[in-house]
Amino acid sequence: MSSRNYKIIMGIETSCDDTAVAIVNSKKEILSNVVINQNTNLTKYGGIVPEIAARDHLTNIEYAVQEALEQSKSKLENIDLIAATGGPGLIGGVIVGTVFAKSLAMSLDKPYVAVNHLEGHALTARLTNNIKYPYLLLLVSGGHTQIIAILEYGKYSRLSSTLDDAAGETFDKAAKILGIGFPGGPMIEKMAMSGNPKLFKLPRPMYKSKNPNFSFSGLKTAFNQIVSNSTLDKNKICDLSASLQKSISDCLVDRTKYAIDQFRTLINENSNIQLVVAGGVASNKYIRNQLEKLASTSKIDFHAPPIGLCTDNGAMIAWAGYEKYISEGETDLNFKARPRWPLDPDAHYKNPIHNKIGKSGVKA
Ligand code: KG4
Ligand code: ZN
Repeated sequence: MSSRNYKIIMGIETSCDDTAVAIVNSKKEILSNVVINQNTNLTKYGGIVPEIAARDHLTNIEYAVQEALEQSKSKLENIDLIAATGGPGLIGGVIVGTVFAKSLAMSLDKPYVAVNHLEGHALTARLTNNIKYPYLLLLVSGGHTQIIAILEYGKYSRLSSTLDDAAGETFDKAAKILGIGFPGGPMIEKMAMSGNPKLFKLPRPMYKSKNPNFSFSGLKTAFNQIVSNSTLDKNKICDLSASLQKSISDCLVDRTKYAIDQFRTLINENSNIQLVVAGGVASNKYIRNQLEKLASTSKIDFHAPPIGLCTDNGAMIAWAGYEKYISEGETDLNFKARPRWPLDPDAHYKNPIHNKIGKSGVKA
C-alpha cells in the first residue's frame, strides 16, 4: 500500500444485471460511482437472462473501470486495493468481475479482496451515514429479505429470513403481471403515487406471527388472481400498485418491529438502538417513511443510505472490501466465484428452513 495516510479502493460489482465500478477512499469519500445497467435489454425479455447478463458484463466492465478512474481523477497505479463481488449471485457475472479484478490486482501487484455482495449492502450505511457497530439491519433486495444483527465486522446473526420469495422479487413479479416493465420496484412505486392503497384487499403473510420470518408467495398469488379477474386500465394499475406496495411495506414494518425486541435482548441494551435498511427495495420512499415512523415510535435511530446507493453499486463493494482487508487481509488469488454465500454461515444450524444445503453450499 502507498505512504498516504488513507487508502484508495476500487470496488467492482457484477453479481446481477448492473456492471458497477466505484472508487472510494478510506476517509469515506466516494470519488466516483459508475453504474451501467442492462434495463433496456431486460425489459425486452421481462427479466434477467443470466447468459445475456454475463456477456453484457464482459462488454461493459473495461469501460466502467476506465470511466470510474476518469471521474475520480485517479490513476490505476494509485489504487491501493481491488475489491470485487465474489458472490452470491448469477455465476456468469460473478466470474466476469472476479477474473477481471484478480487480473488487475495481479498486474498492478496490489491486494485483491473477494466481497460478499450481501456484506456490501449490509455495510453501506457505515460508508454513507458513518454509523458504528452494532446495528439491526433490514436487508431487502431482489434476491434477499433478511433481518440481521450486525454486531461487528464479520459477526452477523440472522434473526429473520423469507420462507419463499424476496420483497424485491415480489415487486418484480407483480410488475410483470401488470405488464409495466422491469425492474418492477421503481415502476410500482411510480404508479402507486397516484393510486388508492385501500381499493384492493391483499394479504399480509406472517403479519403479527410469532415466527419471525417473512413470506411473500401468497401475496403474489393473491395479486395474480385479482389481476386475472380484472380489466386493467391506468387507474386500476395505480390502485393495484399502491395496494401491493402497502402490503409489502406492512409486512416489512411488522417483522422489523418483532426483530427490534429480539435485538434489544441480544445486545442487552434498551436504548441506543440503531435500525438500518439496505438493498434495492430500500430506495422505495414509502417504505423508508414507514420504517422511519416505526423507529420513531420504538424510540430508536433510523438510517437509510442515499437512494442511489441502495441498489447495486461498486461503492458498497469497495467499502466492504476495505473493512474486510483491515480485518482479515487480502483474499488468495485462488478464490473461486461463489453462486451461494450466506452472510452467516451457521444459519442452517439455527433455522430449519435453511437446512437444505445444495452442492454449492447454503443458498444465502
Ligand atoms: O439490491 P438490488 O439492486 O439487487 C439485488 O441484490 O437483488 O435490488 C434490486 C431489487 C429489484 O427487485 C427491484 O425491483 C427493487 O430492488 N427495487 C425497488 C425499488 N428500486 C429497486 N423496490 C421497490 N421500490 C423501489 N423504488
Ligand atoms: Zn444487491
